Amino acid sequence: MRTFPIIAFACAALLAVPQLSMAESAELPLRFSASPGNMQSVRQGARDFMNYCAGCHTLKYLRYNRLGRDAGLSDDVLTENLIFPVGLKPTSHVLNGMTEQEGTTFFGKAPPDLSLEAEFRGAKWIYNYLHSFYLDPSRPVGVNNPLIPNVAMPNVLGHLQGWQQRVEGGHEGVEFKRVSDGTMTPAQFDSFVANITNFLAYAATPEHHTRVTIAPFVLFYLLILAGLCYLVKHEFWKDVHKS
Ligand code: HEC
Repeated sequence: MRTFPIIAFACAALLAVPQLSMAESAELPLRFSASPGNMQSVRQGARDFMNYCAGCHTLKYLRYNRLGRDAGLSDDVLTENLIFPVGLKPTSHVLNGMTEQEGTTFFGKAPPDLSLEAEFRGAKWIYNYLHSFYLDPSRPVGVNNPLIPNVAMPNVLGHLQGWQQRVEGGHEGVEFKRVSDGTMTPAQFDSFVANITNFLAYAATPEHHTRVTIAPFVLFYLLILAGLCYLVKHEFWKDVHKS
C-alpha cells in the first residue's frame, strides 16, 4: 500500500516532463481546426488583423459592413476601431494604400491578398505558418519559415510570441526552440493566432455564417412541410383503401 503514493508521484512526474519541455520547444504540424462561425473569436481576429496585418495585406472580396453585419458591429464601431486607411468607408472593401509595385520594392515580393487564403492553403496551414517564423540572420528580414522557405514576410508577431530558433529533429526535421520570451504566454499566443485564423476562415466564406444561421429555420420548415404532405397523402388514400 505504501508504494501507491510513490507510483502515483512517478506517473505524475512522467506526464509533467513532456509538457514542461513543450513550452520551450514546439514541433510542426500543430493541430488546429477553424471555427469561422465563432463570432466572438472572429471579432477579436478582425481587430488584430486590422492592427497587425492590414497594413500589408488586403481582403479585396470582403466589405467592412459585411463583417459588421455578421459580427454585430455598427458602422460607428467599424469606423472608429477597424477602418484605418484614410478615405475608406464601411461600404469599402478591406484595402490599403500599398501598390503591388511598392510591395515588391519593399519586400522583394508583394504581400498577397488574403481573401481566399483559408480556402487556398487551409486554416491549419495559416495557424502553423504564423507559429513557425524562426531567426535566420542570413535573410534580409532576419527570419525564415519552413512553410514558405526564404519567406519575404517579416515576423510581425515575434515580440508577442517570443523569438525561436530552428533545431534538428521533430516531424520532417522541423522543430523550434524558444530563445527569448514574448509579451504573451504560449497559450495566449495560441488563442491570438487562432482568432486571426478564424477571422481569415470567415473572410474566405462569409456566407458560411448566413448558411449556419438560416439552416435551422430551413430544416424546421421542411419538417412541417413533410408532416403536411403526409396528412394530405393520408387524406387522398383514405378512399382508395376503403374501396
Ligand atoms: C510588413 C508587411 C507584412 C505584414 C505586416 C504582414 N505580412 Fe503576411 N506577408 C508579407 C509578404 C511580403 C508575404 C509574401 C511572402 C512570400 O511569399 O515570401 C506575406 C505572406 C503571407 C502569407 C502567405 C501567403 C501565401 O499563401 O503565399 C500569409 C498567410 C500571411 N502573410 C499572413 C499574414 C498575417 C495573418 C499577418 C498579420 C498577423 C501578416 N501576414 C502581416 C508581408 C506582410
